[in-house]
Amino acid sequence: MKTQAAILWERDAPWSVEEIDLDPPKHGEVLVEMGGSGLCHSDEHVVTGDLPWPIPMIGGHEGAGTILETGPGVEGLTPGDRVIFGFIPSCGRCSACSAGMQNLCELGQYLGDGTQISDHTARHHARGQDIGLMCLLGTFAAHTVVNEANCIKIEDDIALDKACLLGCGVVTGWGSAVFAGGVKPGDTSVVIGVGGIGINAVQGAALNGSQYVVAVDPVAFKREKALEFGATHAVESSDEAQALVDELTWGRGANVVVNTMGVGEGEQIGKSLAMAAKRGTVVVTNLHRATEETVSLNALDLVLTEKKLVGSLFGTANPRLHIPKLLSLYRTGHLKLDELATRTYKLDDINTGYHDMRDGRNLRGVITF
Ligand SMILES: NC(=O)c1ccc[n+]([C@@H]2O[C@H](COP(=O)([O-])OP(=O)(O)OC[C@H]3O[C@@H](n4cnc5c(N)ncnc54)[C@H](O)[C@@H]3O)[C@@H](O)[C@H]2O)c1
Ligand SMILES: [Zn+2]
Ligand SMILES: [Zn+2]
Repeated sequence: MKTQAAILWERDAPWSVEEIDLDPPKHGEVLVEMGGSGLCHSDEHVVTGDLPWPIPMIGGHEGAGTILETGPGVEGLTPGDRVIFGFIPSCGRCSACSAGMQNLCELGQYLGDGTQISDHTARHHARGQDIGLMCLLGTFAAHTVVNEANCIKIEDDIALDKACLLGCGVVTGWGSAVFAGGVKPGDTSVVIGVGGIGINAVQGAALNGSQYVVAVDPVAFKREKALEFGATHAVESSDEAQALVDELTWGRGANVVVNTMGVGEGEQIGKSLAMAAKRGTVVVTNLHRATEETVSLNALDLVLTEKKLVGSLFGTANPRLHIPKLLSLYRTGHLKLDELATRTYKLDDINTGYHDMRDGRNLRGVITF
């Protein structure tokens, strides 16, 4: 079939919205009509080359849609089903999935390949050539073909342009604070960078009982929003946060610090670690440039106060367990979802959406179809 998609042909170039040819789903695959797609910063990392994944590529990895057709061998999904895509496939059977680490499913090894998991070929084509997919998904398209391992079936009551946010930002941010950081009642939590990921780390830290949630962002609008989403304090810089945390905790430090600024910086690791309490945890969720190999931190402090520095992918969550669980928290009013999508865009306006992200105008921009 023919459909529309946003393709990145060159680094540092705009997304090109154009017609593509889409093959029918093969074994274990489904054809999906997209209902919503969030504009996450990770796609921007492919544009800049921080994430040196192959192009040309259809962007987008935070999506939800409706199944139109299933390929042979697909079990548990039928046309008409509504799904959220986990941006990490979770097969449910491999050793990682079996150990409750679905975010580290063995199929994740193909994440940056851009082709289908089933046979490592492409279903998406344009200008006479195969086109890759962001995180095996390509949600910046009116239709896409993906593996069933990426599909989490959901109920009918939630709008797809809201549900899509659980495909990355909500679960990643929430889980970074709650699962990777292990926020407990009475903790002091700090979130560095209030974008689509950070705002959900704020929500997670607040709902899990943090006494203080300090949000850090240079943009005033982000700080205002953080306070609406459960932060007790919002400051402009890590230096200000350090002074505030010292004051709030009588010098003991923060139990959890989550790094979610748009582009990771080696120096920030040291700043975040300095803010952490004894046995405190610094969670690195944001992506650093692939070429960055130097971080600065006080290693003596790390040892003498038993601090922990951990990375987190998809919020250290299990997509098949936690996407439905967080949707359930939304239904009962414990999780804010509607307020996350600051602006919506048509696919044709995707470059405006990313412009707004760079300018700090959105918690999340969302493409509606
Ligand atoms: N680990 C994962 O599973 C995962 C998943 C999704 C996204 N990410 C990454 O998380 C990061 C955040 O993504 P996003 O979509 O929320 O980005 P975003 O661009 O929406 O938000 C980033 C925020 O950081 C702020 N910021 C920039 N520099 C800062 C600084 N020095 N101190 C404090 N705040 C600062 C910006 O003002 C902005 O509000 C990106 O690197 C993204 O690739 C990781
Ligand atoms: Zn993302
Ligand atoms: Zn698996």
